[in-house]
Amino acid sequence: MKILVSGGCGYIGSHTCVELLNNGYEVVVVDNLCNSKENVIDKIKEITGKNVTFYKGDVCDKEILRKIFNENKIDAVIHFAGLKAVGESVEKPLMYYRNNIDSTLSLCEVMNEYNCKKIIFSSSATVYGDPAKLPITEDMPVGNTTNPYGSSKLYIEGILKDLYISDNSWGITLLRYFNPVGAHQSGLIGEDPNGIPNNLMPYIVKVATGELPCLSIFGDDYDTKDGTGVRDYIHVVDLARGHVKALEKLLSVKGINIYNLGTGNGYSVLEMVNTFSKVNGVDVNYKIVERRAGDIACCYADCSKAFNELGWSAELSLDDMVKSAYNFVLKNKK
Ligand code: NAD
Ligand code: UFG
Repeated sequence: MKILVSGGCGYIGSHTCVELLNNGYEVVVVDNLCNSKENVIDKIKEITGKNVTFYKGDVCDKEILRKIFNENKIDAVIHFAGLKAVGESVEKPLMYYRNNIDSTLSLCEVMNEYNCKKIIFSSSATVYGDPAKLPITEDMPVGNTTNPYGSSKLYIEGILKDLYISDNSWGITLLRYFNPVGAHQSGLIGEDPNGIPNNLMPYIVKVATGELPCLSIFGDDYDTKDGTGVRDYIHVVDLARGHVKALEKLLSVKGINIYNLGTGNGYSVLEMVNTFSKVNGVDVNYKIVERRAGDIACCYADCSKAFNELGWSAELSLDDMVKSAYNFVLKNKK
C-alpha cells in the first residue's frame, strides 16, 4: 500500500511517516518546505531503515500532484500540508485561506482524476470554538472559530463533507487533534519552530535552554483547577499512531468519519511547567500576565469513539511528553 503524505516533512507528518513505514506502508511525501527542512526525510529513513520518495512542491500546484500520481500508484492520502500559526493567520487571512483551502481543493481534484478517493485530513479541536460542555465529543456543534486558521479548518471540513455528499464512493476521515507535544524518542525529529514560539511546549523548552528569558503564562484567573488554561496535551507519537489506525479503517470502508485524537486528560499551564521542571531537572522561569485574546479556559477530548471504532488510545504519559520535547531540543541545539 502506497500512501501520499502531504506536509510529511513537518512536525506531525514526519512522525506519521515513521509509524506508517514501521507498519509496512510505502510512503511518498510532498512538501514545499515552507515550515520544515528536507533533511527530515533523511531522519525518517535513519529511524526506520526504510526508503521514502520525496517531491519538493506545493500542494496547490496540480501539475506536481499529477506528476506524483503518474509516477506512483497512490492508495490513500494523508493531508497535513497547511499553515498553522494562529496569530499570523489574523494578520494574513488571505494567505491562510489561499494556502489551506486551495491545497485541499487541488489535492481532491487530482485524486478524483486518478480515482484515488481515500483521504485523511488534519483538522483541529479549534473547530469546536468554546465548547458548551466537557469532555468534547465529536457530535458537539462546530463553529464560532476565533481566527482565520481555525475557520480554514472548519471550511475544509465542510468542503470534504460536501464532496462526500456529491460522491459517496469517497472515504474521508477528519481527525480533530487536541494539543500535540513531544518528539520521537530518537531525538531525530520533533518540533522546531523558527523565532519566538506561539505554543506552550516549545516556549517552555526555549526558556529551559536559556534561549528565552521567561515564559508568560496567559492568565491565572480562569475557572480551572489553578486558574491557568487547561488543555488536552497528546504525545505526537501517539497522534501519529492514531493516523495508522484511522488509515486501516479508511482502507476498508467508504463514508465520512470524524475522530477526536487526544488523551482525555486536561492539564493546566502550571501543571505543564511544574512537570517539565521536575522530570527534566531544570528551572523554567515564568510570570503571570494578561489573558491572551481568543483563548478558552478549558478544552479536553472524549476519545471513546476512536477507541471503540479504531482500537486506538493514547499510551504515552505526560512525563514522556516533556522528556522527549526537551531531549529533542538538547540533541539539536544549534
Ligand atoms: P508543520 O508546519 O510542522 O507541518 C506542515 C507541513 O506542511 C510543513 O512541512 C510545511 O512546509 C508544509 N506545507 C504547508 N503548506 C504547504 C503547501 N501548500 N504545499 C506543500 N507543503 C506545505 O505543522 P504540524 O504541526 O505538523 O501540523 C500538521 C497539520 O496538522 C496542519 O494542517 C495543522 O494545521 C494541523 N494541526 C496541527 C496542530 C498542532 O498543534 N501542531 C493542531 C491541530 C491541527
Ligand atoms: N500559553 C501560555 N503561554 C504561552 C503559550 C501558551 O500561557 O506562551 C497557554 C495558553 O494560554 C493555553 C495553553 O498554554 O492555555 C496552550 O496554548 P497553546 O498556544 O500551546 O495551544 P492552544 O490550545 O491555544 O492552541 C493549539 C494550537 C491550535 C489548535 C488548538 C486546538 O496552536 O492550532 O491547539 O487543537 F487549533
